[in-house]
This record gives sequence, structure tokens and C-alpha cells, in this order.
Amino acid sequence: MQQEALQEIRDASTLDALQAVKTRYVGKSGLVTRELGSLGKLPPEERKARGAEINAIRQAIDTALTERESVLKREALDQKLASEAIDVTLPGLPLPAGGLHPISRVYDDLIAIYQRMGYEVAEGPEVEDEHYNFEALNIPWYHPARDLQDTFWLEESSTGLNGPSEPGAAPAPSVPRLLRTHTSNMQIRYMIDHEPPLKMVSRGKVYRYEATDATHESMFHQLEGLVVGPNISMSDLKGTIAEMARGLYGPSAKVRFQPSYYPFVEPGADFAVYWDNPRGESKWLELGGCGMVHPNVFKAVDDLREQAGKERVYEGMTGFAFGLGPERIAMLKYKIPDIRYFYANDPRVLGQFRGELG
Ligand code: PHE
Repeated sequence: MQQEALQEIRDASTLDALQAVKTRYVGKSGLVTRELGSLGKLPPEERKARGAEINAIRQAIDTALTERESVLKREALDQKLASEAIDVTLPGLPLPAGGLHPISRVYDDLIAIYQRMGYEVAEGPEVEDEHYNFEALNIPWYHPARDLQDTFWLEESSTGLNGPSEPGAAPAPSVPRLLRTHTSNMQIRYMIDHEPPLKMVSRGKVYRYEATDATHESMFHQLEGLVVGPNISMSDLKGTIAEMARGLYGPSAKVRFQPSYYPFVEPGADFAVYWDNPRGESKWLELGGCGMVHPNVFKAVDDLREQAGKERVYEGMTGFAFGLGPERIAMLKYKIPDIRYFYANDPRVLGQFRGELG
């Protein structure tokens, strides 16, 4: 019986199985317990030897049970620990990361190109006095060009066009304010604060009061450029735009200029870019407007400088300016078919730009 019991103890592979063996041999009505209970039926002379023998068996079984129990407990604990183990050397789960908006990326590319050419970067207000947005840019209140850029007037002024009815008569007394319709306001602001020669680019939001569709938004972006010095010519302007095109699209890029009209430049032009596209989708991309700074702009800047107690330094200067829309570049580059996707904050669109910061 002892040998059988010890064998069963060794074979017990779980604590439950071991408990069953224990009950079977040394439980209240176990085999060993019963043997001990039947000692009284033996003749007195046999009782002692038989009792010692059974107690020895019981001892052996108890000892084996205790040892096996501690082994099984140990194994159970090891298993539990193993199942709960974490590998602290595994790489962590990535946190959801943001990314640069496609318009920011295009701006960064453009500004890097102009910084290589030595341009300074300027920034200015989106809420603007009509004077910087229109007047000083050779667009007086009665000028039809104001209709080309439908304007969000701020309520306090509300009436940018409510001047006196005759050209030349005194304008309305308060300076109306508006959301700038272009970044050309920065031409004026920058020239008031800086003396020539200068090279400046300025990025920012602009606003137009117009119906939205796939290619028009009431808020969009522009990059403005201004170069002023004693001998700046139209060929400097063309060379600069061509350099930008090559910076964006590689050495095969070509530029095209078509005469156009903006009151603050003369002559004025629109420019487009063409490059060999490996997908064979090449076409002219209309990018923006440009031209030679109009003498009236230099005069208006000198007047403003004078009012601010500064020297008149612009009359007689030459310069060129350009303005372009990064949305057009980004729509083509990232195959975004509708300008409104840029600003709808739809994660299905912007989520594609997550994670790469640059
Ligand atoms: N400000 C013009 C526009 O928004 C673009 C432009 C800038 C044209 C500079 C000429 C020179 O349409």
C-alpha cells in the first residue's frame, strides 16, 4: 500500500489530484486511517508492532504528500507568473502622432527656395486697414479693381465702397477695416519698416467673399514676394520665378508669363509653370500674379514713412512683386481634387499626412 500510495503521489500532476490521493489514504475514512482504526481488533501482543508499522507508512505518505505539494505549488506559481510576464524590452506602442498640413509643407518648400536666394521672411496681420490692403497699393476706393477681390469688411466700418460719389472727393473719415484680400498688404508694411535694397517673402491667409467650389474657398493662402533696389528689371522677376519653378519641379521646369493687370504693378503678368511629369500629366499650372512695382506704390510708401517720421527712400527705386497660391501646388502634388478638403478637418484627408513631419 505504501508503494502504491507513493507512486500515486509522484503521478499526481495537479494539486487537486494530490488532494484526492491524500483523501484516499490518510483522509478521515482513508485506507491508512482505517487500518489504524482496526488495530483494536488485533490481539494485544500483535497490536504494538502492527501499530508501529502502520504509523511508519503514514509518516512516509505524509512526508511524500508535503514534498509533492510544495513542488506542485511552486509549479503553479511559476505558470501563473509566466502567464503574467511582460517583456519590458519590447518597443512601446507608438502614440498617435500629428503631421504637417499639406499647405504647411508646400509653404516650407517655397520658403526654403527663397531663403536660398537670400530673401527675408515677414509676417503680417489678417485683419487690415483698407489703406494697406487697397489704398497704398494704388487701388483707391472708387477703383473697379476692388470688385475683383470681393471683400469681407469688418462690421465697425462695413462700407469700404461708401466713399463720396465723385472720384477725387474726400474719402469717408474713418479708416475701414477688412480681412485682407491678398498678402500684398505686406509689400507696404515691409517697405515702411525697411529700406532698400530688400528681398522679402511673406506667407499667410487671405479672405474673399465669394461662393465656394472645388477651386475656390473664402479663406486661402498666398505667398507674396517683393524685391526692391536701384536696378531691378523684369528679367530679374522672370529669372526668380523660373528659379522657383526649378526648385519645385526640377531642372525641366519652364515658366510662362502672360500680360495681366494688377493696379500695384506695371507691367503686370500672370505666370504659369510647366514641367515633365513622369506620369505624363504635364500641363501648365497657373500659379499667380506678378509685375514691376508701380511708382504710385513707392510714392504711397514714402508718404506713409514720412507720416511716421522716416526718410523718403523709395521714389526712383525699382522693384518687382509676385503673389501665388500654395493650394494650387498642394492640390496637384498630393492629388487633392477639391480645395475645401484642406480646411474641412476630415481625418480621412488629413490623416494621410500624419506622422511625417516634413
Ligand atoms: N495680390 C495679387 C492677387 O491676390 C497677386 C499679385 C501679387 C500680383 C503681387 C502682382 C504682384 O491676385
